[in-house]
Amino acid sequence: TWEIALILLLAYLFGSIPVGALVARARGIDIQKVGSGNIGATNVLRTLGPGPAAIVAFFDVFKGGIALLISRLAGLDGMVAGLVAVAAVLGHNYSIWLRFSGGKGVATSFGTLLVLDPWVALLTLPIGVTTMVLTRYVSAGSMIGGVASVVIAIGLGRPVWEVITLGLLAGLIFLTHRENIRRLQAGTERRLGEKSAEKT
Ligand code: G3P
Repeated sequence: TWEIALILLLAYLFGSIPVGALVARARGIDIQKVGSGNIGATNVLRTLGPGPAAIVAFFDVFKGGIALLISRLAGLDGMVAGLVAVAAVLGHNYSIWLRFSGGKGVATSFGTLLVLDPWVALLTLPIGVTTMVLTRYVSAGSMIGGVASVVIAIGLGRPVWEVITLGLLAGLIFLTHRENIRRLQAGTERRLGEKSAEKT
């Protein structure tokens, strides 16, 4: 119905808010032209430092969570709620404000998962973070986290719609990390905390 379409559109628009690009622009930097060119907290960290990165991480998670909270208040559940999560992440990855470019959807996916299934979110988080810390590749932690969320949801016997939703979100994470995967294979991926001025 039109209500579902409206909420999907709203979720997309929420996800579209390019927090990282806005925070960087406030400091006179085009975040899409430095480091990895990504608008996410990882690239903000290597470009602007931990303070701005924390703000970006928080609001990118927050906007995903808010989109799901709105859908819940509207009484949406099941696969429709799953599609709201996907819409929010698509907004972040293909932002209407950045000519349909954008981020990689890790923080925003996590925000939707926090509302969708807090237990799966809290079990996924340490797996992703541990991978990031051990490998010092945020991208590796992001992708492992995406896979882990699906495995955990299956392991906990969660409904099929939820497993499909997490599968879609994980699929999007791999899709947006294509360049990271290439760099990981070539051994040129930036480690956590490594700075780099030019976009490569
Ligand atoms: O969440 C994005 C992260 O996994 C990779 O970011 O800037 O290293 O491509 P970046």
